[in-house]
Amino acid sequence: MVIAVDGPAASGKGTIARALARHFGLPHMDTGLLYRAVALNLWRWGGDPASEFEALRATHELNLDPSDQELRSEPVSKIASAVSAYPSVRAALLERQQDFAGQPGGAVLDGRDIGTVIAPDAEVKLFVTASAEVRAVRRQKELDGRGMHVRFEDVLADIHARDERDSSRDAAPLREAADALHLDTSELDVDEAISAAIRLVEEKLAKA
Ligand code: CDP
Ligand code: CDP
Repeated sequence: MVIAVDGPAASGKGTIARALARHFGLPHMDTGLLYRAVALNLWRWGGDPASEFEALRATHELNLDPSDQELRSEPVSKIASAVSAYPSVRAALLERQQDFAGQPGGAVLDGRDIGTVIAPDAEVKLFVTASAEVRAVRRQKELDGRGMHVRFEDVLADIHARDERDSSRDAAPLREAADALHLDTSELDVDEAISAAIRLVEEKLAKA
């Protein structure tokens, strides 16, 4: 069974995907980390995000350490959104994600294009949303907790900019798959969002 979880920044898709993976005993991949690792590589070299060639080089020399705090920093988020628009970068990361989705027991993946590009045949697709303001509050709190203090206006502006860029790019834009289940978490806390997601998945599986 493959569960595809997509949605915009700080919608809660990662939290939900991890909880679903635990609940159903499946391995989980946060695909945003791949793009963040490319961005971090590029940033550390002082590479130019406007150069597809340099971004692709950063992709080929990927070394992902998920515990690296800098992966979640605001500059890296911005660069991740920029480099993820390059078709060559997306192509270079495709196989790793599809191999993960294709493992025998199934998997949960979260990102922007899991239900549309990476695993279009996934048994269950969830599209997780929340208002931009709610998402900015969450992201600011998260950054605060990691000792990165960013003004609310700046976090909100980044969320808007990333929504716009991720949705309008030509290569695998952020959009809801036609057969996705929609979950708006604006008014849900973490536990409520997780329960709602588990319920949606179980209902879908019961119908299949
Ligand atoms: O956690 P958050 O939603 O803020 O970001 P993320 O999921 O870690 O993704 C960082 C950036 O990578 C996003 O802004 C997207 O541009 C890009 N991304 C993508 O293009 N495709 C994916 N499957 C996952 C992330
Ligand atoms: O993966 P994505 O960027 O979509 O979001 P996340 O990392 O799952 O969630 C971003 C932050 O919002 C985390 O600190 C979550 O604990 C928090 N969150 C929340 O406050 N309420 C929810 N319903 C879901 C997540």
